[in-house]
Amino acid sequence: MAWLSAEELDTVHEIAGYVVAGLVAFRLVWGLIGPRHARFAHFVKGPRAVLAYLKDMTGGRERRYLGHNPAGGAMVIALLLTLSGTAFTGWLLEEPDRMAMLPELPQIVAPAWADDDDGYEGYGQNGYSAEMLGDVHETLANLMLLLVALHVGGVILASVRHKENLARAMVTGDKRAPAPSDMP
Ligand code: HEM
Repeated sequence: MAWLSAEELDTVHEIAGYVVAGLVAFRLVWGLIGPRHARFAHFVKGPRAVLAYLKDMTGGRERRYLGHNPAGGAMVIALLLTLSGTAFTGWLLEEPDRMAMLPELPQIVAPAWADDDDGYEGYGQNGYSAEMLGDVHETLANLMLLLVALHVGGVILASVRHKENLARAMVTGDKRAPAPSDMP
């Protein structure tokens, strides 16, 4: 919604963005206090485990997890970071003064943007320009779309491989009963 409304309907865009920020905040809390399979401590694994899982996947021998598999866990973190970064840069762009709360940019970066004529009155504090933050905002929003596509692809692949509808499991919280070889 926020992506579709960008550059068209400012209010819709900002409200949609705040809804995203609220959902991200909820998921962060839920990742700490939610049930076992919702908790970050349960499903966030190191890069080595994620790579090993992806390698198993390419060989078609990955194990079935009752919670998120290691690649799914990495995707959750990537999506949460991208979404919060997009919402945060959008929020910064909404009011010129908000850029002042950012740490000052080193002089090598700031002059590169000094000639920007981005049409924003009063923007450009601590070495930032609205165009620069707009670019970061847009890049993060596009990266999010890419991650969403990868995520949907991963969900479809895992659903086919393990013969269960993972999208339904995300809504109902129920999965097929565990087999002895499954990860709890
Ligand atoms: C997290 C969800 C969000 C997504 C996916 C998103 C996506 C986008 C996209 C694709 C653009 C167009 C960039 C361009 O073409 O220059 C844009 C622009 C913009 N967004 Fe967002 N946005 C989000 C959240 C927010 C929030 C929370 C706010 C403010 C409260 C916001 C404020 C803005 C502003 C002011 C612009 C214009 C920036 C410019 O002209 O460069 N966005 N957003």
